Amino acid sequence: MRSIQIKIYKLDTTTSTNDVAKKIAKIKSDDFVVRANEQTSGRGRKGRSWLSPIGGLYFTICTDYDPLLSIKTGVAIASALKKLDIDPSLKWPNDVLVNDQKICGILIEIIEKRALVGIGLNIDSEPIDDSTSIKSVTDKKNSSENLMKSILRYFYDGSIDVLESYRQYSSTIGKDVRIETASGMITGKVKDIDEKGRLVLEDGTKIISGDVIHLRPSD
Ligand code: BTN
Repeated sequence: MRSIQIKIYKLDTTTSTNDVAKKIAKIKSDDFVVRANEQTSGRGRKGRSWLSPIGGLYFTICTDYDPLLSIKTGVAIASALKKLDIDPSLKWPNDVLVNDQKICGILIEIIEKRALVGIGLNIDSEPIDDSTSIKSVTDKKNSSENLMKSILRYFYDGSIDVLESYRQYSSTIGKDVRIETASGMITGKVKDIDEKGRLVLEDGTKIISGDVIHLRPSD
């Protein structure tokens, strides 16, 4: 795989790498990355906070907007974990799980024609309940810096069939789900993810965004 040339701003402590990237994006027009060792106001999806103690990987890629960005990011992270012999799965839209527990979250924010892709990966610890970390799932030693570079290489590897690869990693396809969308709760069986990254249910409903719960037969 080619090596990538991209400016990486490295910080010790910051509020949120997405916030720092938003400021840099005003003066820099090409892609760049902001990484911090810890965040004091890390942000998650839906206004949630993202606990970000030292020992985790926190970075933001500023890049051009693309409708498949969240799918592409999930695939890049899953591919980097697979390379460490970890067996990841992707819960739609973009939670990265190992053994059904969340190991990594992705927060995408749009700024005009560009996007901030914030990635938080648990490395040494699990800051919230029912999550996992690299340390818990592999004995292989790999620095967080190498892991970030590996994710970036897959992210910028134009030869990957992103949608097909996403389908291979998806733990949502084939499941009965309950989805909390902006217009209410929807339940159904997931048939596929389409070319726009939407969830396609067996009854033909297409969902662009929402929070998914995988239902068990007893639910
Ligand atoms: C989620 O809720 O699953 C998304 C979590 C995203 C966290 C990352 S850490 C780096 C970047 N900076 C932030 O404040 N959030 C994202």
